[in-house]
Amino acid sequence: MEKLRIMSVFGTRPEAIKMAPLVKELAAREEIKSICCVTAQHREMLDSVLEVFGLEPDWDLDIMTPRQTLSTITSKCLTGMDEAIEKLKPDMILVHGDTSTTFAGALSAFYHQVKVGHVEAGLRTYDKYSPYPEEMNRKLVTQIADLYFCPTENNRENLRREAVTEGVFVTGNTVIDALKTTVREDYVFASEELNRLPYGEKKILLVTCHRRENYGQPMEDIMSALAHIARTHGDVELVYPVHLSPVVQECARKHLAGIENVHLIPPLAADEMHNLMARCYLVLTDSGGLQEEAPALGKPVLVMRRETERPEAVEAGTVRLCGVRYEDIVRMADELIDDPAAYAAMAHAVNPYGDGNACRRIADAILWHFGRGERPEDFRP
Ligand code: UD1
Ligand code: UDP
Repeated sequence: MEKLRIMSVFGTRPEAIKMAPLVKELAAREEIKSICCVTAQHREMLDSVLEVFGLEPDWDLDIMTPRQTLSTITSKCLTGMDEAIEKLKPDMILVHGDTSTTFAGALSAFYHQVKVGHVEAGLRTYDKYSPYPEEMNRKLVTQIADLYFCPTENNRENLRREAVTEGVFVTGNTVIDALKTTVREDYVFASEELNRLPYGEKKILLVTCHRRENYGQPMEDIMSALAHIARTHGDVELVYPVHLSPVVQECARKHLAGIENVHLIPPLAADEMHNLMARCYLVLTDSGGLQEEAPALGKPVLVMRRETERPEAVEAGTVRLCGVRYEDIVRMADELIDDPAAYAAMAHAVNPYGDGNACRRIADAILWHFGRGERPEDFRP
């Protein structure tokens, strides 16, 4: 029997981290020819992930430009995907999550009448401008997809409310599969600056921030709150690997450069980031991926957004939404830095997002869909 040609399409850092273990799982299956196509919506940040996980793309659209707009990303992806699909002839295309690459990859598959599997399906805030443009991207992909790989039962329930019930699987999030390969107790950082941090002596606050809906005043407020937190706590070191977006770079430097206990550093390779998270005290972020990883590592998270599509860890008590207002961020961070009881109440490991077997379930579900295997069991925390 001919092998199924399954093409994974991704372009940004988080998609790459979450798709890398899946690409490898597919490649390990005898019945599947795993094809890896990158749009390179991110260039350096994508290449770093490819290197960490040892992936070599079969096709690279190389679309990134500085300060790219949503329209240019989408149109360049669409145009580039035509040739990739015609040459590589996939039986199914897998897209991940909610980026512009995700949406354009799914739309392109539809134009070529190729089936679509949506990895990390069913996340919702129900606010079309927050996260922007991600909420709309994932809703549009829901309309196009044939198979839906939901990280959690809650995500499946979201799809059910939209009358999407066929081809839906609860698999866990592949990010937990990735974490299991990167985090090690005896890990030594490639970066000397990270090896020298005063773990145990001072409280390491790990920060990231990049969302488009926070560009402008919210991001100014977030950065000045972070500056205030660092200046008023001699017992913390704030480590902030700054996203390469020029908008974010400018804002972060304006508020945080030159503060003694602030480390503004370039984006970290995924394995460095995961191991730093495993050693830090507290995470402050607007990232989706960090909200999933930190709970698995027992680290409390303050989410600098107005909403989250990841309520599971909020319900488990290890993640709190602190919003984007200066005074709220400062107040909630102060509490977790200064009040050991408040900290202890949040600092416990929970695993609502996966058990490390998401990729196995997704590969099994694809084979089941094509009549070549058993339907996988659902992930249950
Ligand atoms: C994108 C995704 C967002 C995801 C985020 C993860 C969209 C619309 N947004 O947002 O959902 O959470 O990635 O990080 O799909 N840049 C570089 N080198 C890189 C990466 C980015 O220079 O390796 C700079 C470029 O100037 C680029 C800019 O960052 O134009 C913004 O990148 P873009 O992909 O448009 O948006 P993100 O904010 O990264
Ligand atoms: N990450 C990384 N290096 C960094 C910052 C983040 O490897 O300097 C990882 C992080 O551990 C997570 C993913 O990138 O796996 C999250 O990506 P990002 O925050 O850019 O996007 P989001 O998850 O918000 O879409």
